[in-house]
Amino acid sequence: MSALLPAGPKVRYGGDYNPEQWPREVWEADYAAFDLASIDTVTLNVFSWATLQPAEDTYDFALLDAVVERAVAGGRDVVLATSTGALPPWLAHRHPEVERTDFSGRRHVYGQRHNACPSSPVYRRLSAELAGRLAGRYAGTPGLVAWHVGNEYGGFDGGCWCDLCAAGFRDWLRERYGTLERLNDAWNATFWSHTFSDWEQVVPPNLLSEHWRGPDHTAFQGITLDYRRFMSDAMLANFRDEKERIREHDATTPVTTNFMGMFRPIDYHRWADDLDFASWDNYPPGQREHARMALAHDVMRGLKGGAPFWVMEQTPTITASRDVNPVKRPGVLRLWSWQAVAHGADAVLYFQMRQSKGACEKYHGAVLDHAGRTDTRAFREVAALGAELDALGDAVLGARTPARVALLFDWDSWWAAEMTDGFNRHARYVDTVLAYYRATWQAGAQVDVVPQTADLAGYDVVLAPMLHVLRGDVAARLEGVVARGASVLASFWSGRADEDANAFLMDAPGPLGPLFGIRVEETDSAEPGVTNPVTLGDPLGPAGGPDGVVSQAGLVFEVVVPQGADVVGTYGAEFYAGTPAVTRHRAGGGEGDPGEAWYVATGLDDAGTAWVVGRVLERHGLVGPYADVPDVELAVRENANGRFAFVLHHGTEPVDVVAHASGTDLLTGRAVTAGEPLHLEPADVVVLREHRAL
Ligand code: GAL
Repeated sequence: MSALLPAGPKVRYGGDYNPEQWPREVWEADYAAFDLASIDTVTLNVFSWATLQPAEDTYDFALLDAVVERAVAGGRDVVLATSTGALPPWLAHRHPEVERTDFSGRRHVYGQRHNACPSSPVYRRLSAELAGRLAGRYAGTPGLVAWHVGNEYGGFDGGCWCDLCAAGFRDWLRERYGTLERLNDAWNATFWSHTFSDWEQVVPPNLLSEHWRGPDHTAFQGITLDYRRFMSDAMLANFRDEKERIREHDATTPVTTNFMGMFRPIDYHRWADDLDFASWDNYPPGQREHARMALAHDVMRGLKGGAPFWVMEQTPTITASRDVNPVKRPGVLRLWSWQAVAHGADAVLYFQMRQSKGACEKYHGAVLDHAGRTDTRAFREVAALGAELDALGDAVLGARTPARVALLFDWDSWWAAEMTDGFNRHARYVDTVLAYYRATWQAGAQVDVVPQTADLAGYDVVLAPMLHVLRGDVAARLEGVVARGASVLASFWSGRADEDANAFLMDAPGPLGPLFGIRVEETDSAEPGVTNPVTLGDPLGPAGGPDGVVSQAGLVFEVVVPQGADVVGTYGAEFYAGTPAVTRHRAGGGEGDPGEAWYVATGLDDAGTAWVVGRVLERHGLVGPYADVPDVELAVRENANGRFAFVLHHGTEPVDVVAHASGTDLLTGRAVTAGEPLHLEPADVVVLREHRAL
């Protein structure tokens, strides 16, 4: 999948700037400050619809003209947004149908943002019209490097459940199924007498229809799964409406929208083809989320086949939307920014360049505070990072991640597993994926996060945590991975449902059974905190017996009957004590070593997950040099300029490691020799341009 990225001489630096909120003299002071911080790119016009179009037949671009002119005059590059993420009041007043109906069935009135009904013909017409007019006016502006359509698609409740969406859903279903017989079959409609005899009988699944206790409790997974797919597609249609109109005037400038990493309501894989490049807003839920951020970066990089992406937003200091909003500690902004670059970001941008004067984000962090000071800690850190990015120049631009590990990330599995009754609602999709990712990340192996439809031919290891839904020929392709001597790992709840979320009429894990050489007979669950000790030991390992660890496993305990697989871990408690909790099935390999298919039937703790993942990675020589140093990350990018190893210390205490390679630290100019001691303070970053041939 090809990407079209804005060209540029360096990793871009800047962010959302809303000068329409303050007088012109402040603009001048802002730009003088931006110069001090090496700001080269500003994102303009994210929320200006009411100004741009004060009435249905009136457009007024005077203020935006001035805003764009001032940015360009100062030599800044511009990302121009289309302003369609927040409705103007007149529009909602005149056409109330543009407002969403929420999951509880309540039609909303004017307020907030990110809440337009995606099926509203008026919204679709006017948003596309605005995008077209903006493109007509600003296409060809010097310094215009990207179009930013809408903002953070998803919004309130992640969708709309109005009558227009109901009609759109029925059209979408007709397209997907063709006949009601196929629809009834896909939804297993004979259950609870749901056989539909007319398309008009289908209503959106929400609290008034199939759901109780929220979006994850549905009587019919099939309709809810399809509604989520439909809603994701409906919002994609909004993006396409605008992009098409932009393309009428501007054939070449790359078009994107800002995603949100692992955001459940929208299947970003379904959107990926339509974006020219991926970008996302990095607001981690806590201060110690380095593995989660790394995973989210890798999910974003995976959208365009490994091409670089942008961090469109991050806060320099605090966010405003949480109950508690701690500031980023000294050095953390720098560390997280370099982490983004390490994982493939070719731009590191902020929300926001200057603090809002009023409303809910007036205390949100910004490059410049209300006083416009440049002598604050935050500004100094922003400016220092800007200088580092300047000095780095074009070295890493376009660089790719040389990953030998693929991790399958799948929105269908996420949706279906989390709305499934009968298992354990505490076992969450992202938590499970993150557990396996974290172990791989700590081991220092580079990971491509890809859809289950991806070509798996180039990988030594394929991780498939909670691959609940199987689509197409994925089982055969995973078998192909093992057949050529590589390794596959899946966790509990994998291979349970087809793409309609119906169970396979065979032993679990369904079509994956032959690959893993097991069958799952029962699925036990326990409350959080209840554990079952799993003894891990490789029967074929050097010690010839248990040589591993005891992992306190939780939440899910599948009772597994081997069908050819070796037992690598056994439960220590319950009526299934002594039965397999982790298995490995050796198969294939042709002339060489056999491939391995590992199945982890329970929620191992971190130590257990690390042990299993470590075994798999070791076999392929993929355990990195800092694997034993907690919170030290190694991320690698390569391009024609060379191989860049980013060593990032996320820990809170200094550590001493041994340099894994010789090279030059591009941040300090220091020469590093392989094998010499490398001292890392908390939040330290080394960008080592390695001295070795590619
Ligand atoms: C993002 C959004 C921005 C701003 C920011 C605050 O989600 O795109 O407009 O609201 O959050 O953290």
